[in-house]
Amino acid sequence: MPPPLKSHTIHLHTPRLHLRPMTDADWDILLRWNQDPDVLYYADGADVTAYTLDQIKRMYGGVSQAAFCFLAELDSQPIAEAWLQAMNLSRIIEAHPGCDCRRIDLSIGEKQHWNKGLGTEIIRALVDFGFAEEKADFIFACDVADYNPRSRAAFAKVGFRVAAHIAQPPGTKARSTCDMRLAQTEWAARPNSSEDTDLCA
Ligand SMILES: CC(C)(COP(=O)(O)OP(=O)(O)OC[C@H]1O[C@@H](n2cnc3c(N)ncnc32)[C@H](O)[C@@H]1OP(=O)(O)O)[C@@H](O)C(=O)NCCC(=O)NCCS
Repeated sequence: MPPPLKSHTIHLHTPRLHLRPMTDADWDILLRWNQDPDVLYYADGADVTAYTLDQIKRMYGGVSQAAFCFLAELDSQPIAEAWLQAMNLSRIIEAHPGCDCRRIDLSIGEKQHWNKGLGTEIIRALVDFGFAEEKADFIFACDVADYNPRSRAAFAKVGFRVAAHIAQPPGTKARSTCDMRLAQTEWAARPNSSEDTDLCA
């Protein structure tokens, strides 16, 4: 049995979006996004074009045990999923001993909303929450593929920089991926730190 989705009570607000807790009422929309090959091409490193409901319940149930999982709503309609998760990659944990490292993953499932700055808003909100409330030391975007310059650009706009390039085995979708990193000290030193996200618990 997969672990049930673990929810939380955090709500985040960006200029255009409301990030609310992911719940068991969201399986239909998560399934639709996870059965859209255009979305999965970018959101998933594997060559997969659709997941089943059972598979996604396992994935999100597992991730949510150590993550804050959100659905982002635009005008009260869900358009994206995103989470801030405790770091789960040994290559990063071992390179940052004694540090609280987290990762952000996100996907705008409603693809008509790509390239409108909404991903950048979501990343900025999760970063602000991660550093201000969760007291993380570093936040990462992990395994961002070379065929996804839009994702790299969105994280870069928030201040993430490439920390490592990872060559991928021949025959896989990406020739290389990268881990991008932002330190709490860099975030605190940014010039516009007075414009932070509203947090309502
Ligand atoms: C990746 C994703 C979250 C980004 O969110 P978004 O709202 O589309 O992105 P934004 O509009 O905030 O920023 C995208 C930036 O990439 C730039 N960009 C877009 N296509 C690009 C390309 N081919 N090359 C370089 N830059 C590109 C845009 O110009 C924009 O930068 P700008 O504002 O300076 O002009 C979203 O596109 C998405 O969910 N994609 C599908 C799933 C996915 O890729 N998830 C991430 C897996 S790592």
